[in-house]
Amino acid sequence: MNRYVAWLLRIPVLCYLAALSSSQPGTITSAAGVYSSSVTPANLPWNTYNYCNAPHVNGEHYSKPTNHPHAELKYMNAVIRHHKRTPDNLYPQENELNSIPWNCTNFPQFNFGGSPAAQIFHNTDVPSWHPFLSLFWNGTCDEGQLTEEGLMDAVAHGKDFWEVYSHKLGFLEHVTEKHIFMRTSVETRTMQVAGGFVAGMDPAFASKTFPVTTQPSPIDSIPPNYPCNGANNVRNAFQSVPAWTEHLQQNVDLKARLDATLGTAGLADWASWYDHFFDTFSSRTCHGHPLPCNSTGGCVSEADAAKVFAIGDFEYNYIWNAAENATTYNQLTFGVFMQELSQNFKLFRDGSESFKLRFYVGHDGTMIRLASALGFGKIAPLRWPALGSEIIMEVWETNKKKNFVRVFHEGTVVPGYEWIPLDTFIDSLDAQIPENIFEQCNAS
Ligand SMILES: *[C@@H]1O[C@H](CO)[C@@H](O)[C@H](O)[C@H]1NC(C)=O
Ligand SMILES: *[C@@H]1O[C@H](CO)[C@@H](O)[C@H](O)[C@H]1NC(C)=O
Ligand SMILES: *[C@@H]1O[C@H](CO)[C@@H](O)[C@H](O)[C@H]1NC(C)=O
Ligand SMILES: *[C@@H]1O[C@H](CO)[C@@H](O)[C@H](O)[C@H]1NC(C)=O
Repeated sequence: MNRYVAWLLRIPVLCYLAALSSSQPGTITSAAGVYSSSVTPANLPWNTYNYCNAPHVNGEHYSKPTNHPHAELKYMNAVIRHHKRTPDNLYPQENELNSIPWNCTNFPQFNFGGSPAAQIFHNTDVPSWHPFLSLFWNGTCDEGQLTEEGLMDAVAHGKDFWEVYSHKLGFLEHVTEKHIFMRTSVETRTMQVAGGFVAGMDPAFASKTFPVTTQPSPIDSIPPNYPCNGANNVRNAFQSVPAWTEHLQQNVDLKARLDATLGTAGLADWASWYDHFFDTFSSRTCHGHPLPCNSTGGCVSEADAAKVFAIGDFEYNYIWNAAENATTYNQLTFGVFMQELSQNFKLFRDGSESFKLRFYVGHDGTMIRLASALGFGKIAPLRWPALGSEIIMEVWETNKKKNFVRVFHEGTVVPGYEWIPLDTFIDSLDAQIPENIFEQCNAS
């Protein structure tokens, strides 16, 4: 038994009970947290769950490993979710369910082929005469697009990161592709967040280029996107048992109200889980838009939105953490990313890593899987990963030349991850990589 497993077994009974009660569908209660602004109100603790803009490591609240004053930071990996964006899902009658337009006027979208091409950017136009206008909101934003506010959150995030890892620790001296490897998904918003983050670290990059690496979309491990039928089978099975179906049955009144107001009755994607309601409500509230109201004055109530947010937490925790076989599902769908992480830390251990920082920008599906794979869900139920959600893995070297890992989640050191031997940490990453993952995913 390695020390990581030993640590898991020491987790207090209380935590287990907390996890247990939230995995009972009948007991979903309103989720505490902020869903209406990127700025957490000053009367709440700084690290309060904020769906619009997760708390992250920052100069004011960061401290060096207290019991190891002579240790030095040597290497790190960090993974974040992109920042806030427009809804990624549309109601059948989207236009009427927006009382104000979505405004991306000040956020030109650049996309060009490099030299010798012109630096093309596009602005989205939603013509008022368009025969299909009922399907889309008014304004200048596309579906699932990072907003200007989301970009500013990314810049602020990069600034806070730099405050700690450059100004406070002197670990990163300047922003250079020699020391910083960045990888994103193929979604434009993750690249835009990477760009905002880089300029937050060094404002000079507001007018410079910086490379990010992507994998081909059909096999990208970040969202993740590689095909895995074996995992789909596992998930279908654990979403067919009462532990899952009961929460849908117990909320039929809520679902009927939402369907009546939003025109979503009979649509399978809106019935199998609350994901789309969660997305379409939180994207609005995070941008100060009202909850949807339809053309005859029917509106989604704040109470129903709060209920949807709580159900969203339950569903994310169930699928990626609490369900029987959630571990198998998580490992199959995220094993490829875990392999990359493990390789990174092994490269460092072997002395052949050329980067000081490997930085990833992904999605909620990235963050929930990584949180689950690292065992955070054994401490407390996992919540829907907030926008800008952050997991940082630091490697420190003691004056006896031993390496230890410290892990931060949403700006706070994770209990049990204060000081883990690097070898133990690498073993725990390896334990999440299924053998023959390609064959297991291809199972019929
Ligand atoms: C959206 O545009 C249409 C067509 O110009 C207009 O009738 C409608 O009032 C607009 N809605 C909002 C919320 O601005
Ligand atoms: C959109 O936002 C910009 C500022 O970000 C503002 O100048 C412009 O007037 C807004 N457009 C609309 C239609 O509200
Ligand atoms: C979990 O997997 C096992 C082995 O494949 C299977 O027998 C069991 O029914 C699964 N449980 C659920 C809830 O899907
Ligand atoms: C608007 O919502 C109410 C319920 O809140 C519903 O009764 C009504 O039919 C809806 N109107 C439209 C046009 O969908």
